[in-house]
Amino acid sequence: MERTYIMLKPDCVKRGLMGEVIKRIEDKGFKITNMKMMTLTEEILNEHYAHISDMPFFPGIVEYMTSGPVVGMIVEGDNAVLGMRILMGATKYEDAAAGTIRGDFATSTGNNIIHGSDSVENGEIEIKRFFGPDA
Ligand code: TYD
Ligand code: MG
Repeated sequence: MERTYIMLKPDCVKRGLMGEVIKRIEDKGFKITNMKMMTLTEEILNEHYAHISDMPFFPGIVEYMTSGPVVGMIVEGDNAVLGMRILMGATKYEDAAAGTIRGDFATSTGNNIIHGSDSVENGEIEIKRFFGPDA
């Protein structure tokens, strides 16, 4: 059994799409084993998005990601990391296939509804970052 860190971003919460996205995760057979709503700080975003913090678009990402609450989740299942990335769709919203969460709902690459860990190792790091060392 594999775990991944999933986060419903502020546009998902604001647009009332939480139920739709959670339904897709559960319909696929993944289990949500922990979930919490929270408002992120710039500090935790600098950590979480360290790999893009030098990019010119990063200040806009921080502004967007702190603009309202997010919902963090631990999602478990067979191949949960890759399986969730496939359900989510591509990062760039114009490349995200119809039928994926981003393909169906993202309105820009910045406002792309959902985060999912990109590797098993990063999944464990992100789960501990947002749910604490014992998670
Ligand atoms: P990244 O981790 O590369 O993508 P993913 O969320 O698919 O793992 O980037 C994190 C977020 O940064 C991404 O979800 C949206 C934003 N972003 C942009 O706004 N423009 C870009 O060109 C990239 C690469 C990311
Ligand atoms: Mg990523």
